[in-house]
Amino acid sequence: MGNDLQKVLLTEDEILARIQEMATDIWRDYKGKDLLLVGVLKGAILVMADLMRALPGTAPMDWMAISSYGSGTKSSGVVRIIKDLDTDITGRHVLIVEDIIDSGLTLSWIRSNLESRSPASVEICTLLRKPEVAKVEIDVRYVGFDIPNEFVVGYGLDYAEKYRNLRVVGTLNPSVYS
Ligand code: IMP
Ligand code: MG
Repeated sequence: MGNDLQKVLLTEDEILARIQEMATDIWRDYKGKDLLLVGVLKGAILVMADLMRALPGTAPMDWMAISSYGSGTKSSGVVRIIKDLDTDITGRHVLIVEDIIDSGLTLSWIRSNLESRSPASVEICTLLRKPEVAKVEIDVRYVGFDIPNEFVVGYGLDYAEKYRNLRVVGTLNPSVYS
């Protein structure tokens, strides 16, 4: 499987060190607040697992699963909820935990959906961010790494549901796509 990678962008050590820094920042910013971590399935599972264990204290989590309408690999920003939160977020401080922001359309939609439920606040934490997102207005409070506009896999990110279990983030060999 490792042979399918063309280039490693981020090693396991780099990812974990950055997640530790983000966890420290988050814990400081949410001190004394009722924090709820909301993960977006499936890509965010590994970020969530490592981020919540890197927090100096405990915080509950919940999950949403969504599907993006539209053709091809580009997201349209039109979203359908496949699995909604189990939790009532009224009055709570919600931190959305994501693997990657590309166009930002999906997250804009999720954020306004959650904001309509009267939470105390909604912020975003993402491990990776691509340059495309600059085209939309979306405020992302915590960003792990800004990466080039390339398709990446590993650490929760998939290509056709594969490679999510890689410990690194990398690009695929062109032969994989053909
Ligand atoms: P957006 O609406 O364009 O920001 O779409 C974000 C979603 O597209 C992410 O949550 C991923 O599921 C997927 N995605 C975007 N870029 C990549 C990538 O490089 N590798 C794997 N999935 C990606
Ligand atoms: Mg995702």
